[in-house]
Amino acid sequence: MPSPTRLAAAALALALAAPLAARAGGKEVALPRDFRTWTHVRSMVVTDPDEGMYGFHNVYANKAALRTLRGQARSYADGAVFVVSIFEVKQEKGQVVAGAKQRDVVQVKDASATETGGWRFASFDPSGKRTAVDVSTCAACHAQASGGDHVFTRFAE
Ligand code: HEC
Repeated sequence: MPSPTRLAAAALALALAAPLAARAGGKEVALPRDFRTWTHVRSMVVTDPDEGMYGFHNVYANKAALRTLRGQARSYADGAVFVVSIFEVKQEKGQVVAGAKQRDVVQVKDASATETGGWRFASFDPSGKRTAVDVSTCAACHAQASGGDHVFTRFAE
């Protein structure tokens, strides 16, 4: 029978391994504190509550992402970041407006993240706390973004 110390060591190893696995590759994506001061590049509304991406979306790009988005570089360089703030959809008196914040989703370019298409993905609740998401689902859908290096957003002048 394994000694109690061994069991304790095994339990500790498991406890330490779990958060690492949740990080999908080791590097954690943080919610950028100042993203609201970045360039707002797009809005769109998914009105069907049964859709996974339901909500009023505002998309923000940092400087590095904006350079590529506006066609000044061919592919995204490490450090390019997009954030989508997703809100409830409020429709009243013929107006569609953003309601309460639902979540913020983040996409960070990191060429070493080969399993998820060279990007790291994460999701945060309205208080900024990371929520558990299956990043392979994010990556699988984003792989369908045609010709845009896993980015759906296009820049409209
Ligand atoms: C079913 C397809 C699908 C899934 C799954 C998906 N996305 Fe997206 N994502 C989109 C589309 C379409 C857009 C562009 C429209 C928008 O959100 O404004 C987008 C936009 C984004 C953007 C803005 C940059 C860009 O690519 O245009 C980020 C950041 C983002 N998604 C993060 C995530 C994260 C994180 C996940 C997983 C939790 C995720 N997405 C899952 C389809 C998807």
